[in-house]
Amino acid sequence: MTTDNQPSDTYSATLARSAAIEEELKVTPEKFRVLTGDRPTGALHIGHLFGSLNNRVRLQNLNVPIFIVIADYQVLTDRDTFKDIAQNIRELTLDYLAAGLDPEKCVIFPHSHVPELNQLLLPFLTLVSMAELDRNPTIKEEIQAAGLKQINAGMYTYPVHQAADILFCKANLVPVGKDQIPHLEMSRLISRRFNKRFAKKKRVFPEPHPLLSEAPVILGLDGGQKMSKSRNNAVMLGATADETANLIKKAKTDSERQITYDPDNRPEVANLLLVTSLCTGRDPASIAEDIGDGGAGQLKKTVTEALNEYLKDLRARRAELAKDEGLVHRVLADGVEKARTVAIETLDEVRQVMNMTF
Ligand code: TRP
Repeated sequence: MTTDNQPSDTYSATLARSAAIEEELKVTPEKFRVLTGDRPTGALHIGHLFGSLNNRVRLQNLNVPIFIVIADYQVLTDRDTFKDIAQNIRELTLDYLAAGLDPEKCVIFPHSHVPELNQLLLPFLTLVSMAELDRNPTIKEEIQAAGLKQINAGMYTYPVHQAADILFCKANLVPVGKDQIPHLEMSRLISRRFNKRFAKKKRVFPEPHPLLSEAPVILGLDGGQKMSKSRNNAVMLGATADETANLIKKAKTDSERQITYDPDNRPEVANLLLVTSLCTGRDPASIAEDIGDGGAGQLKKTVTEALNEYLKDLRARRAELAKDEGLVHRVLADGVEKARTVAIETLDEVRQVMNMTF
């Protein structure tokens, strides 16, 4: 998703701040609390792995406390179907665990099971104006992308709900993609206004900062702007080696035999080289040189081998975890309990400062 309407000076300032935070994280991880998450709209693919999952595992292993919200209510902002939600939560959790998120070190929970988090939405809604909700560029893009004719109020207000996701645990760091920056801006606004209005003496909420990573964007195998399961152009984490090979066989390339790394003029070829590079740690241009005039066939063989090798352990782990029928339930029940303990405390503090005690 693009955020072209995001002023570029803000963006470069955010990038610079992220780089500075990265340095601090290495020295004082205990000063940070991370919250991030996903909507449970389906199993995850390699775009998610290289774009966000690996980064979460890295933060976890730096010993930064980390919360992962499965934003199930948020699914209903742009679609009517809810019949797959339970299954999607299960797949998502298995993907998290297989990718290396450790439930001993991070708290994974669906927000629908944390009532005290959701209750923060009510005071938060009074801290923003309709005009501010209406101005959010990411919301506008999502409405357009989903082709919505009728827009429910959950769509306009989900950035406020997302502020509750973030602030209930007093997170000060939120690893996200560019498209989420307007939402983070709203979380900060809510935090500032809450403190100013209700908690002048001792602030209740921190100001959460986005943590932008340099993660590359992986295109769909059909050359589309985005990998997505529904467009059948994505290599799923849980796919088999054969399914992966078949999908890559059908990937779009071009007819030039000489393979070169040229993202501007040969985006599809460059994308396959990039994926190979992410799997092998090698430079995409030198991978291209090795393939030389081997053409698309050799390129596809190279990327298939690299991906299947890279994903081998993750997939074996995922298959093993999936055999344990009760695992997802145990992990999430434990996450919900931990999240609720924190949420109850925060809501209590909120009621205190708002004079809603008796
Ligand atoms: N809006 C995010 C997405 O679509 C998902 C999400 C929900 C989230 N709550 C969050 C991300 C809190 C970061 C923090 O990807």
